[in-house]
Amino acid sequence: MALWPQIPLEDTFGDVLRKAMRGNRIDTHSLAQRTGIASSNIDAWLRDRGTATPDEARELARALSLDPEKLAVRAENGWHPPGIEVSDVRHHPQDPHPSNGYVFFLDGGQRAALIDPAGIPSNLLRILRDGAYHLQYILITHKHADHCDATADVAGAFPNAQIVMHAADAAAIGSLAQRALKVRDGEELPFGDNAAIRMLHTPGHTDGSSSYLFKSTLFTGDTLFAGSVGGAFGEATGYDDILNNVRSKIFTLPDDTVLMPGHGPPTTIELEKAHNPFF
Ligand SMILES: [Fe+2]
Repeated sequence: MALWPQIPLEDTFGDVLRKAMRGNRIDTHSLAQRTGIASSNIDAWLRDRGTATPDEARELARALSLDPEKLAVRAENGWHPPGIEVSDVRHHPQDPHPSNGYVFFLDGGQRAALIDPAGIPSNLLRILRDGAYHLQYILITHKHADHCDATADVAGAFPNAQIVMHAADAAAIGSLAQRALKVRDGEELPFGDNAAIRMLHTPGHTDGSSSYLFKSTLFTGDTLFAGSVGGAFGEATGYDDILNNVRSKIFTLPDDTVLMPGHGPPTTIELEKAHNPFF
């Protein structure tokens, strides 16, 4: 359907470095000691000024439990996923947020589900009204405002749509949480006559972070980005949970599964296994 704009990776080399340092509880000083790299260089890279050589990137990776070869390629900005289109998935920006929203379709476009109602409501409603279809679900990946701050407006405009999210994040939508379906890990939502949407609970970015699988497309929210992972902001869950959930719940899906993240370009499981330095 809509063409995917060629957008850059969500995370720079500096972002990857920062997330891995925070996740491993290693500060600049101790990373410098472990790698023999000057603190001033590490600080500069964290601010996206300059980048490590491939050999320096391998040293950093070994100290941070990242994949050395994948991080070396990343330091040279040497990878971006190819343009990926899925015929029954439409992407839209969530202005003023830098996040991705999606609508996916069934039954020749007559039935649809929305991933993450966020952004300026009038813009979003104009996008959602572009087509005569029944919006069956409003699926929320997690509680951050750039993924759910337009929930009330969309739910008001589409009163028959079922709001779906994990209970741990439901407070973010206020009183609407009462009418939200609180899904659990592995639960399947019937979609049309013969299809289903499967929820995978993938906490760590937030405790209620959820990924939704429709056919061979997985909407990962801020759990997994092309070439990176989301920041660990959960209260009860964190960095190790993100990595473990990706390995056990996402990377166990078929390699050709398309991943549609909450930020940055789409990718596939095969590409992430080959290029994501966190794995
Ligand atoms: Fe987020």
